[in-house]
Amino acid sequence: MTKFTVIGGNASSDLAKRVARKLKATYIKTERKVFPDGESKITIKQIPKKSIVIVVQSTYPPVDTNLLELLSIVSKVQKFSSKVYAVIPYIGYARQDREFLGGEIITIRIVGKLLKASGVKKILTVDIHSKLALKELKIPSENVSAMEVLVNHFKKMNIKEPLIVSPDLGGKERAKKFANILKTDYIVLKKHRDRKTGKVDILSGKVNVKNRNLILVDDMVSTGGSIVKATQFLKKQKCGQVFVACTHALLVNNASKKIKSAGVSQIISTNTIPGDSAKVDVSKVISDALK
Ligand code: R5P
Repeated sequence: MTKFTVIGGNASSDLAKRVARKLKATYIKTERKVFPDGESKITIKQIPKKSIVIVVQSTYPPVDTNLLELLSIVSKVQKFSSKVYAVIPYIGYARQDREFLGGEIITIRIVGKLLKASGVKKILTVDIHSKLALKELKIPSENVSAMEVLVNHFKKMNIKEPLIVSPDLGGKERAKKFANILKTDYIVLKKHRDRKTGKVDILSGKVNVKNRNLILVDDMVSTGGSIVKATQFLKKQKCGQVFVACTHALLVNNASKKIKSAGVSQIISTNTIPGDSAKVDVSKVISDALK
C-alpha cells in the first residue's frame, strides 16, 4: 500500500499530478461542474484507500470558489483518512494578516478556521506572504521556499552581472537570499502603498543601477502596480534589462501587458499558479517536504 494518496483540485491538477509522481502516490482527480446559478458541484472520482491524503489546491482567483472547492474535497475525504493534509501552493488572503485600518477583518484567520473545521490536519504552502499569516492559520503549518528553484532557472539564463532588486523593504530578506544563491549583489527600494486607494509610489532617491541588468524579486505579482512603478523608477536611472522573478504570478487586470509596457523583458514565476510565466516547477520542493 502506498503511504500517500494525492487528490488534485481543479486549480492545481497539473502540479498535484507531478507531486503524486514524485511521492509514488495514487492520484485521484476531481471534477467541478458549475450550475447556472453559479454554485459549484465537486466530485472526487475515486474513494481514497487508507493512507495520508494530500489535497493540492491553490486559492488564486476565483479565490473563494477555489477555497470552497478545497474545503469541500477535504470534508469529503476526511471520512476515509484521519490524516488529511492541505497543500495550498498559493494561499489567498495571506495579505490580510493584520488590521491595517480600523474595522478590517483578519481574513487569513477565518481561512484557517474553515480549513480546520473541514478536517485539515496540516497545511503546506509555498512562499507565504508573511510569517504572521502562517501563524494566523492556527493549524500546524509549514512554509517552503521556491527561491532556490527560481534562482536555478535564472542561473541558466546567463544574465550578465545581474543586480537583484526588492521593490519594497518587506522583501529585503528574499532579495538577499536570491542574491546570495546567485552570488551577486542586491538593493532594496522604498515603496509606499496607499491603504485606501491601493496606489503605489516608489520613495527611494538615486540608486546605482546604470547599465546594470536587474532582476526584480517579489513573492507575488498581482495587479503589477508595484513592479510597474519600480521598473519606471529604475528605467529613469538608465538601468539595463529588467527581469521579474516571483513565486506567485496572479497577474490580474491585464498586469502582464502593463508590466511589459513599463519595460520588463520577461516575467518568470512558478507553477503554484499556472500560466504563461510559470516556467519553474515546485513539485520537488513540495514532495521533499512531505516525505
Ligand atoms: C506586497 O507586499 C507584496 O509583496 C507584493 O509586492 C504585492 O502584493 C504585489 O501586488 P501588486 O502587483 O498588485 O502591486
